[in-house]
Order: sequence, then structure tokens, then C-alpha cells
Amino acid sequence: MNSYAFNQLQLVAEDRVVEIGFGGAVVVPQLLRDAAFVCGVDRSQDVVDAASRRFAEAVRSGRAEFRVGTIENLPLPDATFHKALSVHTLYFWQSLEAGSRELARVLAPGGQVVLGFLPKAHMDRMNMPVDIFTPREPNEVIAALQGAGFNDVEVRRPTAETAWLVATGVRR
Ligand SMILES: C[S@@+](CC[C@H](N)C(=O)[O-])C[C@H]1O[C@@H](n2cnc3c(N)ncnc32)[C@H](O)[C@@H]1O
Repeated sequence: MNSYAFNQLQLVAEDRVVEIGFGGAVVVPQLLRDAAFVCGVDRSQDVVDAASRRFAEAVRSGRAEFRVGTIENLPLPDATFHKALSVHTLYFWQSLEAGSRELARVLAPGGQVVLGFLPKAHMDRMNMPVDIFTPREPNEVIAALQGAGFNDVEVRRPTAETAWLVATGVRR
């Protein structure tokens, strides 16, 4: 899912990209390879510390930054990114609307969001603990992105057999 979501970003060399809930930083090397600047935001201090150590060279040279923060209250200025990515985090958002509004706020007009997630129908079969995971319906994700100011919102399933989905949209 990370690899497919990453490809949907279609990064160009000038892009400033933010990844929210980057966890083990599986796509950060590719983000650093293809974008001008990479910002990672995660609510876990441990995750932020680990990425800051692993990508210390990029941080030192001003090409990367890792910060503690949440999707509901991103510690970032308005309209400063071209692309935003978040994979396997939607189930932890306190509110789809609040998260989508924050993504719209930090993206410049024309900026693109990419969200990878397992849909509710699949999560329900996995018996994930309901006190931790809030499964999301694709139509809820679409409505939240549209309501926050994204156009061309689409949910893609790469193949009929693929369990996970990727939602994309373009900031108005
Ligand atoms: C399941 S992991 C996914 C990590 C990575 N994106 C991946 O797909 O491998 C979820 C990550 O999101 C972070 N997270 C959870 N809720 C968050 C929130 N509301 N705001 C920011 N980060 C959050 C967690 O700390 C964790 O690192």
C-alpha cells in the first residue's frame, strides 16, 4: 500500500511533501530521493526521534524535518506543501473532518493528498479492537475530503483482489 500510495503522489523535484503518521518511515527514503523537502509528522516522540537519527544527514542539510504532532492539529504553517501522504492512519484520526481540514490547510492550492487505508468492510473481518481502531467507509473519506476543500476526489483499488484503497484529491 505504501508503495502504491507513494506512486500516486507523482513527485517532481521541486515538491515539498508532508507525510503524517509515517511510523517506521518505509517510504521516507523514496520521498527524499524524489522531492525537494520532506516533513514527517507523527504523534509518537519515539518515531520522530528514530527518523531524526536515521535521516540525520537530510535533516542537517535542510531537506527533511520530523516533528511530533497530530493530524487534527498539524504543527505546520498554511499552504506550504505541494503533496501530502498518510498511510494506515485514518483509523486513528479523532475526526475525518478535522484531519481533512488540516491537510487542506497545509497544502497550497493545487496540492495533492494521498491517503492509503483498509476499508471498514475489510477491517470488520479482522476483529480489530474497537477502542483503538475506527474503521472508515470509502464514502465517509470522500465526503470529508470534499467538505474540506478537495476537488477530483477519488478512491482507487489497484486490482479487484486488492483489499486496501487509496483516496486522492486536489486542494481547491
Ligand atoms: C499503523 S502506523 C502506520 C505507519 C506508516 N504510515 C506505514 O504505513 O507503515 C500509524 C502511525 O500513525 C501515527 N498516528 C496515529 N494517530 C495519529 C494522529 N492522529 N496524528 C498523527 N499521527 C498519528 C502512529 O504514531 C503511527 O506511527
